Amino acid sequence: MALLTQDAQEIHQDALLPDRIPRHVAIIMDGNGRWAKARGLPRTEGHRQGTENLRKILRACVEFGVEILTIYAFSTENWARPAAEVQMLMKILEMVIDRELKDLDANGVQIRHIGELRGIAPGLQKKIRQACEYTRNNHKLILNVAFNYGGRDEIVHAVRRIVEDHIPIEKIDESLISRYLYTSDLPDPDLIIRTSGELRVSNFLIWQGAYSELYSTPTYWPDFDKEALRSALIAYGQRKRRFGQTDEQIVP
Ligand code: FPP
Repeated sequence: MALLTQDAQEIHQDALLPDRIPRHVAIIMDGNGRWAKARGLPRTEGHRQGTENLRKILRACVEFGVEILTIYAFSTENWARPAAEVQMLMKILEMVIDRELKDLDANGVQIRHIGELRGIAPGLQKKIRQACEYTRNNHKLILNVAFNYGGRDEIVHAVRRIVEDHIPIEKIDESLISRYLYTSDLPDPDLIIRTSGELRVSNFLIWQGAYSELYSTPTYWPDFDKEALRSALIAYGQRKRRFGQTDEQIVP
């Protein structure tokens, strides 16, 4: 009997429990370049495989019951990469919108953009706006695409708009600042995953991620498959989120 209980506990620990699924998962999709290099392929091939992988992870998120997926696709710092790679990353977003929009829409995915549209080529800006508009009534999964996004930049823009709106100083608190961010109506990410083994947040959701659980895996993004996502979600389910409180104060 004791053994049975132990077995049951082990199964329980390795299982994905419906009430322990994070509502909002954010991913730093890192390691495309190293994935390609390890295979003697050009970096562009890593980004191509990374894009293919994104399709699979999107499907897996819907299947696992994740409600919001935020992906770090192009940071404000990525402009400093070689021009050809910047061009390729722009082209990828354009291709994803052109080729996948209908399919994403049919699967109930609501596309949102976080980041600065200014700075992106006008044609691509238009496509991003159209994709968001086209899918705005979908509710199966919110796909938040961080593109030309930086956490510090986001806070600078929020502060500028707060000043422009003449908000009185006594009205400025954490919830007001949250409402001025790109993610204003979304819950903060419960889980931030970073692939490729790096242990940094790299200017990603630095305000919203204050209490997010962090998960790092050595797997490069193109290899981060459904089972890898399952492992990350299971690890999340085993974390104790205390939000600054003590263990005793937390009601399971
Ligand atoms: C990091 O890998 C990845 C990126 C900067 C781009 C991520 C883009 C995709 C996965 C494609 C999907 C894109 C869109 C726009 C939907 P890295 O190049 O920094 O890899 P490395 O650290 O190994 O060099």
